[in-house]
Amino acid sequence: MTTKAGLDGVIAADTVLSEVDGEGGHLIVRGFSLDELVGRRPFEEVLALLLADFFEGLPGLDLKRSLGEARAEVFAIVERRRTAFADLPPFDAMRALIASIPDGDDLQTALQLLAAPAVFVSAAIRLRAGREPIRPDTTLGHSADFLRTLRGSSAHEGDVAALDQYLVTVADHGLNASTFAARVVASTHAGLTSCVIAALSALKGPLHGGAPGPVLDMLDAIGTAGNAQSWIEAALARGDRLMGFGHRIYRVRDPRANALRGALKALMGARGRTDERLALAEAVEQTALALLRREKPGRSLDTNVEFYTALLLEALEIPRAAFTCVFAVGRVGGWIAHAREQTLNGRLIRPLSRYIGPQPKAA
Ligand code: ACO
Repeated sequence: MTTKAGLDGVIAADTVLSEVDGEGGHLIVRGFSLDELVGRRPFEEVLALLLADFFEGLPGLDLKRSLGEARAEVFAIVERRRTAFADLPPFDAMRALIASIPDGDDLQTALQLLAAPAVFVSAAIRLRAGREPIRPDTTLGHSADFLRTLRGSSAHEGDVAALDQYLVTVADHGLNASTFAARVVASTHAGLTSCVIAALSALKGPLHGGAPGPVLDMLDAIGTAGNAQSWIEAALARGDRLMGFGHRIYRVRDPRANALRGALKALMGARGRTDERLALAEAVEQTALALLRREKPGRSLDTNVEFYTALLLEALEIPRAAFTCVFAVGRVGGWIAHAREQTLNGRLIRPLSRYIGPQPKAA
């Protein structure tokens, strides 16, 4: 009996939700390629696509409106508990507030969990900065309302479109670490809040959803395109991992990197300006790819979703400390869909471990 470290290559679930083609660099979500969704379907429509068949009452529901109403419902939790989390970092505050949503497997619980990350992260950021949280507007789309409650004023439609494209891009992605965590908990029939809390905790780490903040730290440290070669060589010589590069499944460029680069360029176009930060990032990316090929010749390391996530969220003026929270705003629909699929069709997930410790002394 051998151990598959990292469960590499192990298929642990059948799913109708998404397919990640790591060799070809394609992502399919419920029968649509990423290109057919990003910039073509609003986030709410992609949520409806992901959740289809998993909840009674979903067919025919106006999800934009129901999500707006759910935002207003969970905002009541902010009002009740505002002093309890004002000092916590945004991710921890968001997770603590989500944990207070009663567990359940019904559509109402799902809607509150879908709404919660956007509401709680805006409130947490504002409270930490000594500002008042802003009440959700139930008539707005999720992206528009998130930016409005975060900034305190209505966002330009180019900004809303860019955020919406981001949320669609990250909505689901096979059996990544956070989704697997959600499915493990769902397999015990614990309830959707428990599944989302498990997923959030897995997402937080820098090898998964915690990478985009450090991508910007890297760009700041490099400073100019001329410094990229020496800085990256030194980082690789130390054995550091370059944030925003490499992936367990993709052996080619992550298709989400291109989708987000496109969204960023469209945002810059809508604002009518070129972006020096983007020019620096593209230079750093090219240097990093060349050096990764040279230093890790046996391994196909390419740009992953987090590199352009960092640039897009920075351009949208989202604080660096909240990047992973915004990932959760987009991914929570995927977690809930996977959790429901697991509960309805799956079996308790209970793999084996191989004991390599000492045996008891013979009596
Ligand atoms: N920079 C430098 N070297 C790297 C990188 C990187 N970003 N990624 C992998 N490598 C190297 C490893 O050091 C290892 O080298 P070695 O064989 O000489 O020891 C080799 O490539 C293989 O690495 P693994 O650990 O097998 O790759 P794994 O599949 O476990 O890791 C991961 C995937 C965690 C994403 C990794 O590429 C990484 O740490 N990247 C940086 C963090 C990051 O961007 N995370 C976001 C991922 S996307 C997402 O989850 C949403």
